[in-house]
Amino acid sequence: MRSAAFLIAALLGGALLLAPPPQASATDAEAAVTPESEINDLPPGPGRDAVYYTCRACHSDKQFTQQRLSRDEWDELLTAMVRENGMAEPEPWARTLMLNYLSTHFSDLPEDEWQGLPPGHGREEVFYLCAACHSLAIVKQQGLDQDGWAETLDWMVEEQGMPELETEERTAILEYLSTHYGP
Ligand code: HEC
Ligand code: HEC
Repeated sequence: MRSAAFLIAALLGGALLLAPPPQASATDAEAAVTPESEINDLPPGPGRDAVYYTCRACHSDKQFTQQRLSRDEWDELLTAMVRENGMAEPEPWARTLMLNYLSTHFSDLPEDEWQGLPPGHGREEVFYLCAACHSLAIVKQQGLDQDGWAETLDWMVEEQGMPELETEERTAILEYLSTHYGP
């Protein structure tokens, strides 16, 4: 992922050199080529690089950080960026990564749509990741310590086809699960 982000950054660097001076045109898309915000303005988490380097190619991140959308709506928005606004079709893994990021941090999910997961750091990751394959009821009925949850995650990855987690995401999930669904 790091090398993909680097490649995109390199491509963007090239685009910057070729872009006309900002005053030459006043469209949002071109004005946003001026890097007026930093990646650190976006909340940390898996997918931040992909979103930053992909979306910032055309417009300011304010264009999307002010939105509050459901996951389906983010999905539709990504499709619209490709179909209507000329965004390159992301690789499937990059699309999932960006969708997870956007729907985690810029979500409109009301409290009663979390299938009963209590609020806390890691909730979004558990919700979107685990509910992709099965009901959260089978997660919530378990009471395991961190080691037990770690084994469950390994089992999901090795036997059930769950994607391998980045360290940061895995830690957040483990802490969330063992805090709320401990022994
Ligand atoms: C190739 C250029 C391009 C890329 C890449 C791009 N966009 Fe856009 N986006 C546009 C254009 C053009 C508009 C329309 C701008 C306007 O209407 O002012 C737009 C508008 C938007 C809007 C406002 C849409 C609305 O209906 O209110 C959002 C939100 C948005 N983009 C999010 C994103 C996100 C998130 C990404 C990265 C996954 C992204 N865009 C990547 C070109 C792009
Ligand atoms: C790619 C699909 C997939 C994903 C993603 C996934 N699971 Fe599963 N999970 C399964 C399948 C399939 C089973 C049923 C396996 C069986 O019973 O043989 C299962 C079963 C379970 C069980 C039941 C174990 C038992 O003893 O009954 C738990 C607990 C569980 N998953 C936790 C999780 C958690 C927590 C996550 C998110 C971090 C997650 N799963 C994500 C596919 C998935």
